[in-house]
Amino acid sequence: STPHAWRAADEYLSDLLVGRDPALERALSAQQAAGMPDIEVAPVAGKLLNLLVRMSGARRVLEVGTLGGYSTIWMARAVGDQGRVVTIEAEHVNAAVARASIDAAGVGDRVDIRVGRGEDVLPTLVGGFDLVFIDADKESNTLYLDWAARLGHPGTVVILDNIGRDGEIVDAETADSKVIGTQQALRMLAEDPRFDATALQTVGVKGWDGVALALIV
Ligand code: DHB
Ligand code: MG
Repeated sequence: STPHAWRAADEYLSDLLVGRDPALERALSAQQAAGMPDIEVAPVAGKLLNLLVRMSGARRVLEVGTLGGYSTIWMARAVGDQGRVVTIEAEHVNAAVARASIDAAGVGDRVDIRVGRGEDVLPTLVGGFDLVFIDADKESNTLYLDWAARLGHPGTVVILDNIGRDGEIVDAETADSKVIGTQQALRMLAEDPRFDATALQTVGVKGWDGVALALIV
């Protein structure tokens, strides 16, 4: 099948299973208006994050990479009114746009945006996170996985975005730092005894990519 067929099928699934969502559409419009890249998770993946939070019963969620707050809103809706999402964003402008969109979505009181680079913010956090979503600079993926293990507990769900990368992960000679960061993260998930993991390739509106799912053991 062609990428065109993947796209059409993903749109079909999104229309059917996600549907119109004014708060999320507002977040994407604000993100685009602010000149941020449209690299947020696909609608079906946003709903997957929402379902994973609910399926695991997570109440304390950590996100690395807020961007415009699209995935943040999906997860904040899932934690319940006593739940909390801490989300880390390196860019002040992105964080301000995300703050407005998250507040407009009605979940602002559940979301704590920490502005700064992950490597600086993560050591300042108090642990106890039940679910961690890593979707930031791919070069730092192993650092973020290490912090996910340190700030989580046995049973914490860890989700790592963008592991497919158009199939380039098989290229041992790659010079692409994002691919190298992804390969290192996948090796860590395989070898580090703190994790038990799998990974799924995805095709859809974002092309050929994928997500790794891990449990802290
Ligand atoms: C990129 C980052 C992402 O998180 C994503 O979902 C897609 C692309 C990137 O940096 O290219
Ligand atoms: Mg991503």
